[in-house]
Amino acid sequence: MNDINFNKSRVLFERATKVIPGGVNSPVRYFKPYPFFVESANGSKLFTNDGNVLIDYCLGYGSVFLGHANQEIGTEIKYQIDKGNLFCTPTEKELQLAEICTRIIPCAEMVRIMNTGAEAAMHSIRLARSFTNKTKLVKFEGGYHGAFDYVLNKAGSAAATMDYTDGILTESASKTITIPFNDIESVQKVINKKENRDDLACIIIEPVLANAGLILPEKEYLNNLRSIAKENNILLVFDEVITGFRLALGGASEFFGIRPDIAIFAKTLGNGYPISLVAGSKEIMSGFAPSGSVYQASTFAGNPISVTAALKTLEILVNEKNTIYPKVVINCDKIVDAIRDIVHDKRLDITLNSIGSMFQLFFSDIPIKDYSSVKSTNTESFYKLFKILLSKNIFIPPSPYETCFISTVHNEEDIEKTIDAYESALSTVMNS
Ligand SMILES: Cc1ncc(COP(=O)(O)O)c(C=O)c1O
Repeated sequence: MNDINFNKSRVLFERATKVIPGGVNSPVRYFKPYPFFVESANGSKLFTNDGNVLIDYCLGYGSVFLGHANQEIGTEIKYQIDKGNLFCTPTEKELQLAEICTRIIPCAEMVRIMNTGAEAAMHSIRLARSFTNKTKLVKFEGGYHGAFDYVLNKAGSAAATMDYTDGILTESASKTITIPFNDIESVQKVINKKENRDDLACIIIEPVLANAGLILPEKEYLNNLRSIAKENNILLVFDEVITGFRLALGGASEFFGIRPDIAIFAKTLGNGYPISLVAGSKEIMSGFAPSGSVYQASTFAGNPISVTAALKTLEILVNEKNTIYPKVVINCDKIVDAIRDIVHDKRLDITLNSIGSMFQLFFSDIPIKDYSSVKSTNTESFYKLFKILLSKNIFIPPSPYETCFISTVHNEEDIEKTIDAYESALSTVMNS
C-alpha cells in the first residue's frame, strides 16, 4: 500500500481485532497486513475511512450488479422503512417477487425465499435428499456453497486458502463426494461405484465456477452432466448464487440453455440486500414445510426490506435487459482484451478467463479449467498484483480464488483507469 495511505484503517483494524475474531466478520475480507475500512459507497466506487476512493471490482463478491447505493432501489426501501420492516406474516410483495421469479427463472414453478446463499444451498440439498429418498451428494473441487458442514471439503473462496474444516464432524461430511470440475468421467465413475449407485441424491454445481478464480464449463460439460443426472435419477442443483440474474436475466440456466431440477439464487437478486431463494418444479418444491415435511424456516425470510430491494432490482433488470446485459459484456471485454494485449506484448505467462461481466487473471500459462490448475498458479504474484492495484485505487477481490465483477455503472473513465493500473502493475510484478 504505497501510493495511497490506509493509516486510519490500520488503527480501526487494531481495535477490531480486540473485539471481533481476526478483526473481520467473514474470513474472505481479511488480507495482509490489514483490510481497509469503508465508510460509504456509490456507483462503482468505495469511499474508505482514510479518504481514498477505490474503483470496486469486488462489488460485495458479485452482489451489487446495479452499483452501490442505487437510487431507484433506495427510494423504494425508504418508503418501505416507514411502513415497517418485519411482520412475519405473508405480504403481497413476497407473492409478487415469487411470481416474477417463476417467469424469469427457467426451472422455477415455485420459489421459497430465504436470506443467504448458504441457507439456500443447505435447504436445496435437504430437499433433494427428501425428494429422492437418497443421502449422498456430489460437489466439485473449488466450488463454494456456503459455510456449512457438508460442503466445505475442498471448497473455494477463503476456504481454499487454508484448512478451515475444524469443528466439522466426519460423519456429517461423509455423505459428500468431491470431484474435479470439467471432468465428466469422474462423475460417471462416482455413479458406477456400487456403494453410490442407489444413494446419490444430488449433484450441486456452480455452472460457472466463480469461487476458485473463474473457471468456465467446457463445451457440452453441463449438458452431459444434465443427461447423466437424469439417467440416474439424481437431482441436478445449479448454485446460481453468483451467476443468477448476472450472466443473463435467467442466469446460467438461460445462458447455457440447461434446466436444472433445483436452482438457488442470492447476491444480485437483492443488489446487496440479504435475500436468497430456492427454485424448482411444483413437485419438488412442495416438499418444503408446511406443504411437505422438509423443515425450512427463518424469522427474517421474506422480510419487506430485502423483498423490496429484490422486487426493484428485478424490475430494473427486466425493463432494461436489452441494454444492461450487452453493456456489461462490452465493458468486461474492454478490460479483458486490453489486459490480453498487454500480456501478449510483454510476453507474460498469464492466463485470463472471462464470461459475461466476470473475469480473472492467473499467473500461469496453462489453461485454467479446474481447481488443481488454479492451485498450480503463482499466487504470490497475484497477491503482489492485488496490492499494487490497490495502491492505484483499484480494488479487486484480495485472492486468486475469487472473481472480479463489473457493474452496470462502471464507466469509460473507470475502465481506462483500470487498464492503465493493470498495465503498470503487471510490469512491476513481472520485474520484481
Ligand atoms: C456460489 C455461491 N454459493 C453460495 C454462497 C454462500 O452465500 P452466502 O455468503 O450468502 O451464505 C456463495 C458466497 O459467496 C457463493 O459464491
